[in-house]
Amino acid sequence: MKIAVAGTGYVGLSIATLLSQKNEVVALDVVPEKVEKINNKISPIKDEEIEKYFKEKHLNLKATLDYKEAFSNADFIVISTPTNYDDENRFFDTSSVEDIIQKVILMNIDTTMVVKSTIPVGFIENIKKKYNINNIMFSPEFLREGKALYDNLHPSRIIVGEKSKKAEVFANLLKDCSLDENTPVLFMNSTEAEAVKLFANTYLALRVSYFNELDTYAELKGLNTKDIIEGICLDPRIGNHYNNPSFGYGGYCLPKDTKQLLVNYDNVPQNLIKAVVKSNKTRKKHITDMILKRNPKIVGVYRLIMKTESDNFRSSAIQDIIKNLKQSNVNIIIYEPTLDKEQFDDCVVVNDLNKFKNTSDIIIANRLDQNLISVLDKVYTRDIYNNN
Ligand SMILES: NC(=O)c1ccc[n+]([C@@H]2O[C@H](COP(=O)([O-])OP(=O)(O)OC[C@H]3O[C@@H](n4cnc5c(N)ncnc54)[C@H](O)[C@@H]3O)[C@@H](O)[C@H]2O)c1
Repeated sequence: MKIAVAGTGYVGLSIATLLSQKNEVVALDVVPEKVEKINNKISPIKDEEIEKYFKEKHLNLKATLDYKEAFSNADFIVISTPTNYDDENRFFDTSSVEDIIQKVILMNIDTTMVVKSTIPVGFIENIKKKYNINNIMFSPEFLREGKALYDNLHPSRIIVGEKSKKAEVFANLLKDCSLDENTPVLFMNSTEAEAVKLFANTYLALRVSYFNELDTYAELKGLNTKDIIEGICLDPRIGNHYNNPSFGYGGYCLPKDTKQLLVNYDNVPQNLIKAVVKSNKTRKKHITDMILKRNPKIVGVYRLIMKTESDNFRSSAIQDIIKNLKQSNVNIIIYEPTLDKEQFDDCVVVNDLNKFKNTSDIIIANRLDQNLISVLDKVYTRDIYNNN
């Protein structure tokens, strides 16, 4: 089969790599450097599995800037372009997804579009009506950044938003290229599949918020957070995982997906969804207050990234802590080795680790790291388990 993948970010590149083991895959992007890297077998994102597959596997994968080259004769066109939340319009900005859809319609080809980008509930139905088409469905993506290909090689579930032969063919493509035998495969309408994605991420954000609010309580009451969490999580109904306190949930998806779900609720009664969005702000305010209580002259920010293995810091919680601290006129320096500039958000970047450690009165770290062991008395973190 020929498969086109539009957008070669975490989602697109992992899907393209996965499917190119057994199919002809042409990946489209608008960034020439990304296309060049992929064609030279260099991953533009940090992902151990993708790097390994690029080096060791025979992949039928080509990248291009030319959408006609990518889309012509494609059996499936996977769409994995960004859908940022637009704070002004209070909705996802789905223009890049629509851009691809319009191009496909203009080419008038016999193909099936599968949207992997996270979209508002009802998006596919609206698109079908707006453009009078039927060859489009949604298939939610559940990967984690840094483990994007790994999660597609070992998917927790495969969900395709149509009950049809085409949907089965697409699900089989994903399954055949994965390494697991017994992955659950679910078929449902696209609207339900869209809801699955937003509700799944909102549950994750709720869980993070729950353990964070527990930690806020423990911190202010002088209690041992770890003892409480262990006591709770040994209940198998709750489970001893995804319970590590942090400065707030962050990263590309959880902040924007929770906001979009809240908008989708519209006139539907709810308290919890709103609270999940609000809780994150409250947590970051609490973390800021705890830092300010120590009266630091210079706050050292250890890493802007959200997760230890991450190579980007899109919407990381610590950036909001920086914004809050700046309102109190605290001097801030940042240690972030992935940054190749001297300033970030008006703060000085100090990537000489010793200088960073010596200059900071207090070092704030969303996640603890070996690098900080020698200055633990200066470190403020809520990390207990040293995992994400
Ligand atoms: N990152 C995640 O962990 C994750 C997980 C599940 C779902 N998602 C969803 O998948 C979508 C993509 O996320 P991502 O993290 O891969 O994004 P990304 O920003 O890493 O990648 C998007 C890619 O699309 C390209 N692009 C933008 N406009 C384009 C256009 N018009 N034509 C072709 N290419 C274009 C960009 O250059 C970029 O390479 C989003 O909707 C996101 O919510 C992301």
